[in-house]
Amino acid sequence: MNTKTCHIYIDNKPYEFNVKGEFFWGKEELLYNKTNSVLSKMPWENQGFKVVTAFINDEFERLKKSLTQNIVDAIKANNIAFKESEFTLDKYHEVVNTDHLHNQVINLTRNLENKDFDFNIDTLAQRFGDILGYRLTSWVEELQKSHIQIRISRPNSLDINPPHRDGYLSYWEDIINVWIPIEGCNENSSLPVCSGSHLIPENDILRTESKGAEINGNIYYVPCILETKSGSIKMIRPNPKQGEALIFTPFLIHGAAVNNNKDITRVSLELRFPRV
Ligand SMILES: [Fe+2]
Repeated sequence: MNTKTCHIYIDNKPYEFNVKGEFFWGKEELLYNKTNSVLSKMPWENQGFKVVTAFINDEFERLKKSLTQNIVDAIKANNIAFKESEFTLDKYHEVVNTDHLHNQVINLTRNLENKDFDFNIDTLAQRFGDILGYRLTSWVEELQKSHIQIRISRPNSLDINPPHRDGYLSYWEDIINVWIPIEGCNENSSLPVCSGSHLIPENDILRTESKGAEINGNIYYVPCILETKSGSIKMIRPNPKQGEALIFTPFLIHGAAVNNNKDITRVSLELRFPRV
């Protein structure tokens, strides 16, 4: 395995981190389906992403409360000493203060299901389906479950996945990606995307295989995209606000969500809705 340095730009600022893996350039093909994708009807199809309204009334607060409770439960299950009544998500890193403990916590939070959260995932599927003009479902047939994933990124950490496309995995080919900010998501920490990158053909992409990239000791399911024919990947943070969501095609390059806030943990929720 080779170790390479991934150089990227986020809002014009350079970042670099090491990735272990075998890298290759792809075939001469475009994986994004220009004639029939979940974005086909959207005027912003060529950008590949959009910030939209996700929640109304008290929906966001209820979701956040239940999500916080799940994290509190995971901290307790690991016998980590803390004052539950004073716990807030933004100070997570003060309670879960080592990589080891953090990995134990996310081992529990990565197995959560629909029933663990106080929100209606099918209402959201319908809402985004109405925006896109297609019927969406929360059920992922190939996985036989819904996909709900909490992402926790501590400040000054490498709690990031590499720049990648989810669409390389067969069960994510025909879906809409949904990224929801919960806590500590702002211009310093929000999920970066590479605008228009779903239209880059494979022969212009240098990447690893699935489960073939390791950052800071963590192996990722998704392939790491190291660079394109035009050089380092240039990303922006669309930065959706509380109650909004970032929706995007699974072929859009995204990730490397470095948390640059000095003392705030970032928490987000990631959903994926297949087309019916
Ligand atoms: Fe992703």
